[in-house]
Amino acid sequence: MEDRTPQKTDLDPIEIASRDEIAGLQLERLRWSLRHAYENTAFYKKSFDAAGVHPDDLKSLSDLSRFPFTVKTDLRDNYPFDMFAVPRDQVVRIHASSGTTGKPTVVGYTQTDIDNWASLVARSIRASGGRPGDIAHVAYGYGLFTGGLGAHYGAEQLGCTVVPVSGGMTERQVTLIQDFKPDIIMVTPSYMLSILDEFKAQGFDPRESSLKVGIFGAEPWTNTMRQEIEQAFDMHAVDIYGLSEVMGPGVANECVETKDGLHIWEDHFYPEIINPETGEPVEDGEQGELVFTSLTKEALPIIRYRTRDLTRLLPGSARSMRRMEKVTGRSDDMIILRGVNVFPTQIEEQILKCAGLAPHFQIELTNPDRMDVMTVHAEATAEGASEAAREASAKELIHHIKSVIGVSAKVSVGEPHAVERSMGKARRLVDKRIKK
Ligand code: DLL
Repeated sequence: MEDRTPQKTDLDPIEIASRDEIAGLQLERLRWSLRHAYENTAFYKKSFDAAGVHPDDLKSLSDLSRFPFTVKTDLRDNYPFDMFAVPRDQVVRIHASSGTTGKPTVVGYTQTDIDNWASLVARSIRASGGRPGDIAHVAYGYGLFTGGLGAHYGAEQLGCTVVPVSGGMTERQVTLIQDFKPDIIMVTPSYMLSILDEFKAQGFDPRESSLKVGIFGAEPWTNTMRQEIEQAFDMHAVDIYGLSEVMGPGVANECVETKDGLHIWEDHFYPEIINPETGEPVEDGEQGELVFTSLTKEALPIIRYRTRDLTRLLPGSARSMRRMEKVTGRSDDMIILRGVNVFPTQIEEQILKCAGLAPHFQIELTNPDRMDVMTVHAEATAEGASEAAREASAKELIHHIKSVIGVSAKVSVGEPHAVERSMGKARRLVDKRIKK
């Protein structure tokens, strides 16, 4: 793999500033953000008043814990535009996340918000090993989803040549990669696996492709998957995180030189980890739910937003800004199987250990005799496709799941391509349990 470490002189000074400098900037910006939210959004005025707090109560960063949380339903209740803190005609862009049920959550951006977002995605691409002059193939979906346009504006801002392919038409993805020879690809990790399959189907060696850096996010993926993709394409695979309510992609990003978790761009977002049951903040290093407060956003200030994503905060490494560990999963994707907590990412790790299995999978939950049953639908690789080999792979996976995760699962190993593919975020969990 080519060395893609950025020059220190190319970084934004704040990326390597002292902790004191970062904290000073955060406090100043946090004061502004709380006041902006309180004075310009009826929702925040009401929620701060109900909690008996006022923006002036924030004397230090830790005072933030006195302020109330914001959750996804608050955005839904204020559908479509009531969370905006600026007049609608100053909002230059709308995005929305579909969610699984109910109304979408709508987010808005002023021109300054769009410019900040582009700068942070540019910073993220640079941290990933991308450089001005690189060709960037963007296969995140374009549209209401923040992935495509978020990546696009950031890549342009960094000075890349952007190819706005969006998701889907997998054959054409491969043709464009072969013909345009991009250095960078931005796509969900699960869709990257479909592109990998298509490379093989068309008879191309993915290691010979021009790709040097893959910037993968929008869904949880493991370090084992990183190795798989890096090996297959002979390129760096780097993690990008974000969510529409907080901005979109580029809230946090890994550095290519360390690949040790995602640096949170703390000059724009203030992170906390809370105990998801009690709502109390926990110390850095402890696992819990990630909560974000925006520090600069104008159109949609977001105060103590509960992401439902589970991770922990770690000190800075390649940058002074703190890191979040790779997200294990969302609290709503956690399966509690006979008392044991199981995340789809844990199943992913076990599947990748089995030579006869492809990295695609889906988990189905049922409750036939009132007992929850987890069935992992996996699929064989071309080499492992015989019936005997599939049976052996199923046994092997059952064994790994039992011995490493500690639960009994059913496993069905289908023929190659048996598992549903997605062009964006993979649907890992299908809950068919009948609610009693
Ligand atoms: O997925 C934004 C994004 C686009 C991020 C492209 C990265 C790349 P939403 O659709 O609002 O926004 O979904 C946000 O996706 O709360 C996480 O649960 C999950 N997620 C996003 N990035 C990661 C990641 C975009 N790197 C939700 N690892 C978040 C794990 C991620 N989960």
